[in-house]
Amino acid sequence: MGDETSADTCVLAIDAGTTGVRTRAVFVDGRAPIASYREFTQFFPQPGWVEHDAGEIWEAVKVTLHEVIEQLPEPPRAIGITNQRETAVAWSRSSGKPLHRAIVWQDRRTAARCDTLTADGALPIVRERTGLVLDPYFSGTKFAWMLTEGGVVDSPDLALGTVDSWLLWNLTGGTVHATDPSNASRTMLFDIRSLAWDPDLCDLLGVPIAALPSVLPSSGRFGITSDVCGAPAGIPISGIAGDQQSALFGQACFTVGMAKNTYGTGSFILLNVGQTCPAPTDGMLTTVAWTLADGTTTYALEGAIFVTGAAVQWLRDGLQIIDSAAEIGPLAESVGDSGGVFVVPAFTGLGSPWWDPYARGTIIGISRGSGRAHLARAVVDSMAYQVRDAVDAMSKASGTVVRDLRVDGGASAMDAMLQMQADQLGVTVRRPVDQETTALGAAFLAGLAEGVWPSLDAITDQWQLDAEFRPAEDRLLADALHAQWLRAVERSREQAVDDPAE
Ligand SMILES: Nc1ncnc2c1ncn2[C@@H]1O[C@H](COP(=O)(O)OP(=O)(O)OP(=O)(O)O)[C@@H](O)[C@H]1O
Ligand SMILES: [Mg+2]
Repeated sequence: MGDETSADTCVLAIDAGTTGVRTRAVFVDGRAPIASYREFTQFFPQPGWVEHDAGEIWEAVKVTLHEVIEQLPEPPRAIGITNQRETAVAWSRSSGKPLHRAIVWQDRRTAARCDTLTADGALPIVRERTGLVLDPYFSGTKFAWMLTEGGVVDSPDLALGTVDSWLLWNLTGGTVHATDPSNASRTMLFDIRSLAWDPDLCDLLGVPIAALPSVLPSSGRFGITSDVCGAPAGIPISGIAGDQQSALFGQACFTVGMAKNTYGTGSFILLNVGQTCPAPTDGMLTTVAWTLADGTTTYALEGAIFVTGAAVQWLRDGLQIIDSAAEIGPLAESVGDSGGVFVVPAFTGLGSPWWDPYARGTIIGISRGSGRAHLARAVVDSMAYQVRDAVDAMSKASGTVVRDLRVDGGASAMDAMLQMQADQLGVTVRRPVDQETTALGAAFLAGLAEGVWPSLDAITDQWQLDAEFRPAEDRLLADALHAQWLRAVERSREQAVDDPAE
């Protein structure tokens, strides 16, 4: 394999998401990518529990890798991995087999453990060292649960990791156990200031540090493929990042103040805050965005919203007022406004900036004239309001003003929603031509390490604008609607506090 970059040169990205795995070949000449996708099984063994079969995820990776590689004009120059974050995997180093079903980020089985840790006074050290809040969302208490309740035994044979590490282990034929700082920073075991596993936190949670992966730069060589993985042997695996950080990279948000939002199942707003780790910020998560091969680390503030696109699925599957997700945009636009109806889709509580696990979904402002289109419109509007709340809190607490917002994800297909987003935020919203920014980020991280793209500037040049939404000059209307929205949020709060099921 030559090192010269030709028009046919490409980098592969493996995007192992929550619902499926997508492998995508990204070409240097910017031609249309080649991609393959497989869904995998979601297991819901008990209310509030969500599991995946790590073996099935690996099979989906092998199949999609094979399907893409078959169509390539020349072997890929490198592979990048991006993944659903926080999901915990345990496996045997000798057999290579998972020791437990993967416990998925949405899983709430460790909520009581988190309450105990909080009661024991652990929150300040978690905030200070990891930039997170003490919540079952993160991996640490999930690993601990596997050891205390899940029958996984601590021994030198034990490997613990997130989905990126599991895939890297398999791609390298069981020779490399590593991760990158963006994934490590979501475990609640990693000190984001020193960029190392924190022995105190590992002790506190009961997670054996020896079972954890080595932490290497997000852009840099992690290992090479073995011949058992569906790809040819010897391809370098040179990029790893969690899906939301990868999307920030794929959106080329390389300078302070640049931010992206992904409108997927939920929404995750990441704001580049530069190369100094900021102090914890109220209502926000602080996270590592990426570490490059030159050793520089970029940090991000993150607003995590649990339900945006999932509310579209609820209109489709729960209420059945639309047949497909794509119908919501036109239906919402068939009315001039929501007619005073507000939907707060707090199905599993509220994330940033409220962090209220006891909030529940609320519909308010219904009158005799309200119809399905108004409800659809209110669901669409709720995406823009929730993102505004997170961005407002972010700007206020950090003092870093969001200058513009780059967007991607399934629901960013809706032009009217993005216009409303611009009006609500008072900043310009930009959607790129290629909205698979999660996969793009992993490909860029890997390609940067292997010299396929020579610099961040070269990656910036690849970003192409599809559509731009400028805010209305008059903010009165947007602010009046937002004030009504905040009253609806107030009414959704603490709804489930005395729910016997909680
Ligand atoms: N045309 C559309 N208009 C509005 N919403 C849409 C449209 N297409 C998809 N969606 C919504 O977008 C969401 C899917 O977005 P996306 O594919 O970005 O998901 P994701 O969260 O990245 O998935 P994964 O976790 O598997 O990576 C779904 O919730 C769906 O309801
Ligand atoms: Mg995704």
